[in-house]
Amino acid sequence: MQTPQKTPAEIVREMAGGFTLTQVVYTAVKLGIADHLKNGSMASHELAHAVDANPQSLHRFLRMMVVVNLLLQKEDGGFILSALGELLRTDHPDSLRNRILYIGEVNYPAAQGMSHAVQTGEPGFDHIFGMPFFEYFSRNPHTGALFNELMSQGVEDRVAGIVAAYDFSKARTIVDVGGGKGTLITAILKANPQATGILFDAPTVLAEAENYLADNGVADRCRTVAGDFFQDTVPAGADIYILSNILHDWEDARVQLILNNCSGVMPPDSRLLVIEQLMPEQVLDAPVTVASDVSMMLLLRGRERTEAEYGEILSLAGLQVTSLIPFAATRIYSGRKTNWAIIESKRL
Ligand SMILES: C[S@@+](CC[C@H](N)C(=O)[O-])C[C@H]1O[C@@H](n2cnc3c(N)ncnc32)[C@H](O)[C@@H]1O
Repeated sequence: MQTPQKTPAEIVREMAGGFTLTQVVYTAVKLGIADHLKNGSMASHELAHAVDANPQSLHRFLRMMVVVNLLLQKEDGGFILSALGELLRTDHPDSLRNRILYIGEVNYPAAQGMSHAVQTGEPGFDHIFGMPFFEYFSRNPHTGALFNELMSQGVEDRVAGIVAAYDFSKARTIVDVGGGKGTLITAILKANPQATGILFDAPTVLAEAENYLADNGVADRCRTVAGDFFQDTVPAGADIYILSNILHDWEDARVQLILNNCSGVMPPDSRLLVIEQLMPEQVLDAPVTVASDVSMMLLLRGRERTEAEYGEILSLAGLQVTSLIPFAATRIYSGRKTNWAIIESKRL
């Protein structure tokens, strides 16, 4: 039997009510409901005791979780996890717990600044949180750690594609500028034993990065340097500089500053790799990039750019594109068209 098509009004009503779903998954994760149900069915009053919730309200909330297919209700009234609900468990190999916490604590409240962002051109985040995005993370390290983990998961989806697509075999020193906790530089160093790395990021991020590099056995080949890529502190003299998922965070003037601070310390034969998704000419060719562009507008002052825009902004910093290397991102993009690319440039 065919599922009846939704009417236009139903589709738009669902869009308007999307906030409920965000808050259902967020509340479920915040209370740790899936973790408590991982060993099987529980009655709602037992669960209420375990998660310290009002029994009647929790029962009503669990019924909603059944409606959205995160839980199933057994004949005896007990609740168990559905296949979707399993993904909320902390210890699930593909756990979405931290992503959901991050979205609930940062993107959801920031999204209330959407109309402000569109009307004024200023970030919705600053309007709602009263301070810029990265400053918020340095003042709230717990949320900052959630963000770093999210970025690290994103870069994990790109690492294999980047390492396969680009030849790092001749590089002696590679600087990952704004490299976060070190996921990308670690993968590059593992695949290229001749290379040493420098992970450059804000001091608050590097404490976590040092543990990550040590846990992955590359701490002896990768040092960390704390700094600000808007200041003149990017380490000089390396063979390769990487800006992965950095430039889209910033407006043109700031991108210019970051690029100048890299090109100013690059030896003539070194290469800069800008790794970004490219904004397509046709919106529907890459809806994910269009959505990411709106996130950049909401959270920061950044934007997703076309290949031509990257070429132009690089040339203003005295850099010339030498190669454009598309690569495949995996997992979260599986089955969807992506347009990630390494834009290689050198000093003019
Ligand atoms: C969107 S994340 C990208 C992380 C990683 N390169 C990736 O590919 O996913 C941006 C990174 O830039 C760092 N960052 C932000 N402002 C910075 C600054 N002024 N100087 C150095 N790093 C900065 C953040 O701490 C974060 O690790």
